[in-house]
Amino acid sequence: MTLTDYQKELLDGKHGEAREMAMKCLYDIGLYNNAEKFIEILYCHDDSTVYFGEAQVLFAEHLAKIGAEFAVPTSTNACALDMKRWEYQRHEISWMTATRRIEASHLKLGAAACFTCTPYQAGFVPAFGQDIACAESSVIAYYNSVVGARTNRYGGPLELLAGIAGFVPYFGLHIPENRKATGLMILGDDITEDMFNEPSIFNIIAYTFGKKVGDRVWALEQIPKAMTMDQLKQFSATVASSGGIALYHLIGITPEAPTREAIINDIKNVETVTIGLKDLYETEQEFSNMNETGQIDLISLGCPHFSFAEFMEVDKYFGDNKVCAKTEFWVFTSRTTYKVAHDSGLLDRIKAKGIKVFVDGCTMEYPTHNWGTKSIMTNSGKFATYCFNKVGVHPVFGSLEECVKTAIEGKVIKRRKPWWI
Ligand code: F3S
Repeated sequence: MTLTDYQKELLDGKHGEAREMAMKCLYDIGLYNNAEKFIEILYCHDDSTVYFGEAQVLFAEHLAKIGAEFAVPTSTNACALDMKRWEYQRHEISWMTATRRIEASHLKLGAAACFTCTPYQAGFVPAFGQDIACAESSVIAYYNSVVGARTNRYGGPLELLAGIAGFVPYFGLHIPENRKATGLMILGDDITEDMFNEPSIFNIIAYTFGKKVGDRVWALEQIPKAMTMDQLKQFSATVASSGGIALYHLIGITPEAPTREAIINDIKNVETVTIGLKDLYETEQEFSNMNETGQIDLISLGCPHFSFAEFMEVDKYFGDNKVCAKTEFWVFTSRTTYKVAHDSGLLDRIKAKGIKVFVDGCTMEYPTHNWGTKSIMTNSGKFATYCFNKVGVHPVFGSLEECVKTAIEGKVIKRRKPWWI
């Protein structure tokens, strides 16, 4: 690899033990991936924040002890729990203690205390074409695809080391040519424009796309209308959980794909897959696996973290109604959005409906065993996907509006969808 004088100094330990360690690890990754050089990054998203065990905590504390500091602005991902309301959430005290140790170490490294998986809704928005280093699959997919910034799927703690070094080896999605689509998915004639008035279709298509594409870079054509930031957020999270997608292109919507020609090199020979209503029906069947009683113990929203716009929607759909007595209704958001919603008076209206709002924590760390929860309804494709293999409860997928109506009625309310066959 060709190194600048400064990068050689970092490797030689002339700028401290932490930067030396970070550069050595990244150098090995670069060699493995045949990188020719290092490139500068301008931002890092740190996902080493959810507690997974003592080794993770000790590593962060070691970095802090040897004087490591982030070289670039670094945002923190969601952690395991709400650091103030963890007792109400019925989390174990040992998890809280570990989370506080993680928080202390990462803040000592200079990270921003935003603790969210939607850093782009908390003020961290890199520019188009900028090289960055991110972990957390939905954030990676969002920044790459929706913003057009460039990051590989850096799994924690590799993103920590990139943030400390301020450089990453030049390979993968940092190289513009590797960002081109190698396949194209199109919607069959039986999926019509009017079906996009049903908001849950975006998540259903995202899941289908991710499952068929795996970890490749593909484009999707024929989404007939502009998507909101929250729909793109959900789309990014879902494709990155049903598949291993780090970058997708929505032709005519995402910035690197204004046209087919702009994002696909060999249009005539590109692998093309058509999906139809049957695929959407099968996806929804996978999402929703109600238990026999049809009872919903918890409505869980905010995976990824809820935005101000989504709080407004919930407020609108509830009207003067409240959450029924049999059901818990939890919303996970960032502390940034929480404060804005609070200062705007919106949070008080939301809480008055019986909704519990939590910050910092990740929905997936919901302590099911301490609550005895059997079934959860959500509007999140990612959460519905992981309910099967991680949380182990029966998920029911619905739109935001259907989640609210279910909470009011105390039983699952879902409109008939055009793809139910
Ligand atoms: Fe965020 Fe956790 Fe979902 S990190 S995207 S709430 S799985």
